[in-house]
Amino acid sequence: MTTTTAESPYQSYVYAYPHKTAYRPLPDRPALREVWAGERQHALSLYLHVPFCEVRCGFCNLFTRIGSPEGLTTAYLDALERQATAVRAALDTGARFALAAFGGGTPTYLAAAELTRLCDIAEQRMGVDLRAVPLSVEASPDTCTPDRLAVLAERGTTRLSIGVQSFLDTEARSAVRPQKRAAVETALDRARAAGFPVLNIDLIYGIDGQTERSWLRSLDAALGWQPEELYLYPLYVRPLTGLGRRSPGPSPAWDAQRLALYRAGRDHLLAAGYEQVSMRMFRRSGAATASTGEYACQTDGMVGLGCGARSYTSKLHYSFDYAVDASAVRGIIDAYVAGTDFDRAEHGWEMSGDEPRRRHLLQSLLQAEGVDLAAYRRRFGSSPRQDFPAELAAFEERGWLTADGAALTPEGLAHSDAIGPALFSAEVAARMEAYEAR
Ligand SMILES: C[S@@+](CC[C@H](N)C(=O)[O-])C[C@H]1O[C@@H](n2cnc3c(N)ncnc32)[C@H](O)[C@@H]1O
Ligand code: SF4
Repeated sequence: MTTTTAESPYQSYVYAYPHKTAYRPLPDRPALREVWAGERQHALSLYLHVPFCEVRCGFCNLFTRIGSPEGLTTAYLDALERQATAVRAALDTGARFALAAFGGGTPTYLAAAELTRLCDIAEQRMGVDLRAVPLSVEASPDTCTPDRLAVLAERGTTRLSIGVQSFLDTEARSAVRPQKRAAVETALDRARAAGFPVLNIDLIYGIDGQTERSWLRSLDAALGWQPEELYLYPLYVRPLTGLGRRSPGPSPAWDAQRLALYRAGRDHLLAAGYEQVSMRMFRRSGAATASTGEYACQTDGMVGLGCGARSYTSKLHYSFDYAVDASAVRGIIDAYVAGTDFDRAEHGWEMSGDEPRRRHLLQSLLQAEGVDLAAYRRRFGSSPRQDFPAELAAFEERGWLTADGAALTPEGLAHSDAIGPALFSAEVAARMEAYEAR
């Protein structure tokens, strides 16, 4: 199914390169000990994935399932602990974590005692000192109960990110997100009371029926909480999701709506004293930052635990199998929970040839501050213009690149979701195209 037109500014959200849909089963199932041997391990990032939600939102294709039959969350945490033990044994004894995150799904789907156990797994099995490194946790409003937030605050969460999507009940309904404004306000109040240094609010634009006026009303409701961060997501309608099944498909009118709402939202936040960090991310000027510590996403490795998580070394990106459809997701989670063999990489992609350069460029250029040309040269002995002349010339022609070629112009940032995919290698693009959603 095609979800975009060729000229659309909304080709795909590139938050990691390559996307999981480019991964394939690794025929030799390499041992993690070999995969991690010789890698820099002094500033790793740890990601724990919790694939449970109370509902399945109409727009969402993340790896998650609705609810959990009796005992499944305990069994999941048991498996996570087995996996953590196996993975830690594959790392160097001196490996250190500089950053941690719990994502999903909805990590706060877990009860308070289960969140305590999740933190214990990170600390005792992986050796992360959660109170000493930045720790970011995703939450939905309905699961922000005082007992859960108390555990997260006490264990050192520095950033709580709440998915609000819209403060208007009609828009939430239109996005098939069963949610009430009152519950959102209660959750934000509790998050503030718990005292997390950074509060992030996620909002979505491009929802059916949303207007510039209603969008700005949502933004003002969010600004009332003075969040340190705001993420503004353009709506994507993806295959096998609730909205995908009934969507009329992409259209130039919808693209124009999203672009207009993007510009209105960006200008509104800039006028309210926020800085733009990337197309989606805005940070309140002078506010505490959820820093990434010593971790550098372009070069340092990531260890993902849980069946929806990926891991990166400098040479291999890997994860478990991936799906969107409810029964396929359930099957993958059930297999994970029954698993005992966690010391091999199953699905993945080798970062050979010019892939590390592409990834480095993508992860720098799509940030407002752009590419550190000296750091790029130190790492690769060249410049992005030498390595990707055709791609960068095409961006320049459209007015998307600054004169030094190191950063995106405001219009370039607005077109980040077209620029990202244009930097994919032909092989990654072909694999993603051939991936069959299930
Ligand atoms: C893991 S969720 C956030 C936490 C929690 N599960 C929740 O929904 O409140 C990640 C965020 O990605 C955004 N998102 C997910 N799918 C999207 C889509 N198809 N279009 C636009 N934004 C999307 C939403 O803003 C969502 O809050
Ligand atoms: S948006 Fe959040 S709550 Fe909704 S299905 Fe996706 S992960 Fe779950």
